[in-house]
Amino acid sequence: MKVLGIESSCDETGVAVYDTALPGVAGLRAHAVYSQVALHAEYGGVVPELASRDHVRKLLPLVRQTLAEAGMGVGDLDGVAYTAGPGLVGALLVGAGVARSLAWALDLPAIGVHHMEGHLLAPLMEDPDPVHGTPEPPFVALLVSGGHTQLVAVDGIGRYRLLGETLDDAAGEAFDKTAKLMGLPYPGGPQLAALAEQGTPGAYRFSRPMTDRPGLDFSFSGLKTQVLLAWQQSDRSPQTKADIARGFEDAVVETLAIKCGRALDAAGCDVIVVSGGVGANRRLRARLQEMAAARGGRACFPRPSLCTDNGAMIAFAGALRLQAGQHDDAAVHVTPRWDMASLPPVAA
Ligand code: KG4
Ligand code: ZN
Repeated sequence: MKVLGIESSCDETGVAVYDTALPGVAGLRAHAVYSQVALHAEYGGVVPELASRDHVRKLLPLVRQTLAEAGMGVGDLDGVAYTAGPGLVGALLVGAGVARSLAWALDLPAIGVHHMEGHLLAPLMEDPDPVHGTPEPPFVALLVSGGHTQLVAVDGIGRYRLLGETLDDAAGEAFDKTAKLMGLPYPGGPQLAALAEQGTPGAYRFSRPMTDRPGLDFSFSGLKTQVLLAWQQSDRSPQTKADIARGFEDAVVETLAIKCGRALDAAGCDVIVVSGGVGANRRLRARLQEMAAARGGRACFPRPSLCTDNGAMIAFAGALRLQAGQHDDAAVHVTPRWDMASLPPVAA
């Protein structure tokens, strides 16, 4: 089954074609992402109306480009998947409108995909590990993006239980806000991570929030205040900046690793899959591999380019549901706030 995937929930326009007849990442016949980062940079964050308008401009050319790269025409498609939520309502409606219209014109089944389920399933799109194969439920998922930080028990595809989440800032948001207060341009997460590479470990030590008490929830908003104080009181030299960045990154990574270990204990399994933009972070990847290996398990990630928002994960997640016979009616309907636990299961 060849499925067109469309992602437009925030500031990336993503389009992909996933072919379920081919194994693993070979099924990804083509994918393209257009990032609006430059458009929003001067405002220091995403401006929803500008995001919607840019999706309008970019989506159809990107669909044409992706189909051309896949060597396919619209007539070759068997289904359409699009992000139906959570996200910015205007931005979601652009993707849903285009996807629904295409599906209606081509008489194809279409399905609205939960953005976080797309992230969650992205690691399963990768080629199987030569020894352990593709991760199969039950496992625990850590979803760490600009808008979410969640630990989810995955009992099956479509069977999700929230184990813990952030009570304030998401991990990516904490990276971006901390980067901003040290003068790095939006979105500062990746730049802060790059700066941390030059930093001296241990030169600055920030707290590991909420790890001193039981529970699987997170709180990252206090960290940026700690960083702000350290930054204001420092000499602000390039080395100090890198040292503070390293101290911040270590605090976030260690906090996530501690809670992931606890979540594996709570769920009674040893496999953690990680996705969302912060899943691209090199030190987080290394630390979680180490944590999982130490308990005889493993940590699975998509390649960094499939951690951040993309159409491939939507095509893949949509294909799994369409293959199971699920699809939605023809209404253009989006769900800006959407609980993943309310999704229907996908029969094996
Ligand atoms: O999943 P994503 O592309 O979009 C959302 O759905 O939010 O995640 C974007 C977030 C941003 O906050 C960005 O700064 C962060 O992921 N991010 C990183 C890295 N790459 C992206 N944070 C830390 N280290 C990175 N290497
Ligand atoms: Zn995302």
